[in-house]
Parts: sequence; C-alpha cells; structure tokens
Amino acid sequence: MKILVVGSGGREHTIIRKLKESPRVEKIYAAPGNGGISRDAKCVAIGAMDKDGIAKFAKENDIDLVFVAPDDPLADGMVDTLTENGIRAFGPTASAAIIEGSKVFSKNLMKKYGIPTAAYEVFNDPAKVMEYVEAQNKYPVVIKADGLALGKGVIIAANRDEAAAAVKEIMEDKKFGDSGNNVVVEEFLTGPEVSVLAFTDGKVVKPMVSSKDHKRAYDNDEGLNTGGMGTISPNPYYTDEIAEICRKTIFEPTIAAMNSEGRTFKGCLYFGLMITPDGPKVIEYNARFGDPEAQVVLPRLRTDLVDIIEAVIDERLSEINIEWSDEATACVVMASGGYPLAYKKGLEITGLDENGQVDGATVYHAGTKYEDGKFLTNGGRVLGITACGSTLGDALAKAYAAVGRISFDGVHYRKDIGKIN
Ligand code: AMP
Ligand code: GLY
Repeated sequence: MKILVVGSGGREHTIIRKLKESPRVEKIYAAPGNGGISRDAKCVAIGAMDKDGIAKFAKENDIDLVFVAPDDPLADGMVDTLTENGIRAFGPTASAAIIEGSKVFSKNLMKKYGIPTAAYEVFNDPAKVMEYVEAQNKYPVVIKADGLALGKGVIIAANRDEAAAAVKEIMEDKKFGDSGNNVVVEEFLTGPEVSVLAFTDGKVVKPMVSSKDHKRAYDNDEGLNTGGMGTISPNPYYTDEIAEICRKTIFEPTIAAMNSEGRTFKGCLYFGLMITPDGPKVIEYNARFGDPEAQVVLPRLRTDLVDIIEAVIDERLSEINIEWSDEATACVVMASGGYPLAYKKGLEITGLDENGQVDGATVYHAGTKYEDGKFLTNGGRVLGITACGSTLGDALAKAYAAVGRISFDGVHYRKDIGKIN
C-alpha cells in the first residue's frame, strides 16, 4: 500500500514509524512532514490544510490511504473531501470532529446524554460572563474559548481580576479569533488527569493503553500550558476498576451519543479525563491522536496499525483483536528556549545520527528541518525522546540518558517527566 500521512509533528513521525513496521506498506508520503520524517518517508510540499491539494496528490499518485492526523484539517472537512473524491481516509468527518472543534458542542452533548463532566454555563456576552462569575464567587474558575486555540484557550482564573482579564483577552481582544465568540465557564475539578485514546468505527470503541501528559512548561507543573512537554504510559492512576467505570459511563455513551446526533465518529477519539473524588469526568475530547501521547502509546501497539485503520474505515473493528506490550514507555520533549512564547529557529541540533536518531531510544522529530546533512530546529517542540522499559523507571532512565546526548542552543526540557505528585 501507498500511504500519505498529513501533518508535521512528533505525532505524525510516530504514526509513520509504526506504519513502517507493517509488511503491507510499500511507500509512505508525508505532507508536509519535517526533518526527521524526511528520513522515514517522502515529504511533499503540500500544507496540512490544503484539502484540495492533498486530494489531487492522492489521486495522481495512487495513494491507497490518507491518514489525517492534526485537528485543524479534520475540523475543516479534509476527510469529507477525500471521501467525496473516492480516496480512503482515516479520521472523523467535519460533522464528528466538532466534538473537539467546539467546546460548546461537546459540553452540551455531555449534558444531554448524562456523560460526567464539570458543571458549566455558555456565554456570548462578556458582561454576562462577569455577572455570572461574580454571582458564583467561587475560585478558581475555569474559562474556555469555544473553538480551537492550539491548546491555549483554557484559563484557570484564581480570582475575579484574572477572570476579567481572561474574558477580555478571549472575547474582546479576540486573541484566538472567532474561537472566542463564545466561552464556557466551568466548575474547577481536582484529581489526577488521564489521557485515553480509543479506536472507534462508530459501532464499537476499543480504548488503547492509557497515558499521562505533562502540559505545563516547567518542572513541578509551573509555567504556562503547552501542547505537552512529556508523557508516560501506562498512567499509574488508571486502574482496571477506573477503566471499567470509564467504559460504561464515558466511552460507550459518547459513541452512542454521537450516533444519536447523526454525527457518527470514526477514527481515534481522545478522552481527556480527570479522576475526581466523584469518579472519572471528561475534561475534553480530541478528534485525533494526542501529541505527545501518540509517542508513548503507539510504540506499545503489537497489532498491525494498517489492519486496524482499515477495520475502522470499513466498520468491522469488532473483528480485530488489538494487542499491546506490557512494557512502560516515557517520552521527554526537548523544546526551544522560550516555548510556548517566542523562540528562535534554525539552530543546529547535535548528537543525532544521519537518521536523526540516538542509541537506546527513539527520537520522534517535531519542529525540525533537514538541510545539507544537518538537523536544525524549526518549531517550539523540537524532539520527543521515547524509550521503553520493563518498568516506568527503566523507560525514564533510558529516555533521559538519550536526552543527555542531544543538544542545541537554548534547549529546554522538563526533568520531572513521570514524577507522580
Ligand atoms: P483542555 O484544553 O480543555 O484540556 O484544558 C487544558 C488543561 O486545563 C487540562 O488539561 C486541565 O489541566 C485544565 N482544566 C481544564 N478544565 C478544567 C476543569 N474544569 N477543572 C480543572 N482543571 C481543568
Ligand atoms: N497533548 C495534548 C493534546 O494532544 O491535545
């Protein structure tokens, strides 16, 4: 098979590495890919949002399958365009991807179908938000932009002034554009967070092994929220008992709810959960693999990913037995100094071999480019260094040993990935 993967981050590099293991795969293309991906696949200069360009390339090059990995092209209907053109594509249609694209939609869905989540109200008028926040007078309070905001549209306000500043930024200054036309004001929940990715064909849902993301920029969960600074799998808080509660109260009801709404979800559905004192609750849904969750989950997959993708598209996922390794995995993200705010690009990365790898771990490239035999930084999150081990401690030791051999000017990474607090 010839497969085209849409996207350019560490998640896409991980997907490509896993697809390469399949004996069914003859050639992999990436649009647009990155420096590390260029060592594993043929990168083509088509933007990840260019649905007509992707469809044209797929037709002209006899692509058998397109894997749409990022949230924006899914929300924009890339899978719809491909399917209309007779091209097989993995990922939800736009009408189902709205589960991530609109928090107002997902919160209303959960309320309507009784899926556990934080209590909330929706507003389109900044003055009304502040009236409500002041009347509630309960802090911290969580304020979320309705639409996609690169993972930065959630503000946990410790007091009235912080809430007012967040409302101004989102609704008046339009920091996230139209994503801030509506906001969700939510009850603040507490408890450990768990990420569970699941394959679903709209009929059955098959959760993958669990993971834990470290979202804050600095050690001890300090600093700004980022796309994710590191991950581990499995998540130690996700016991078999919790998994069973999640299946019954969250996973299966969500698939059924989307069907009832006429928005059947097919692809990878990401459940961002919090294990609260009242049981597991949904913090957010994503319509895709997480990044860097994919970097610790997919390496543990033992079943051919192509077989699973085809079963999802053809709605026969129930026939597939998906197997996982018992190993633990850890991913440490090496980021550009300054990320998630301003940072430099084009700095040389040392310590990588000609394939962009290092002994003892797998290097998934995120923001890199390859020029004249050198790897250069080209984004905020640069590399995700992933290792497997018989225990989490073992995986972490291997990942950090590899991190220690790689360097670039201003590199920043968390030293406490996998630490449970
Ligand atoms: P989200 O983009 O919705 O996943 O939110 C980003 C992060 O904000 C989450 O990973 C949580 O750490 C935090 N968060 C979001 N909603 C809540 C909530 N209702 N209570 C407490 N923390 C939250
Ligand atoms: N790591 C969180 C996400 O992919 O949304």
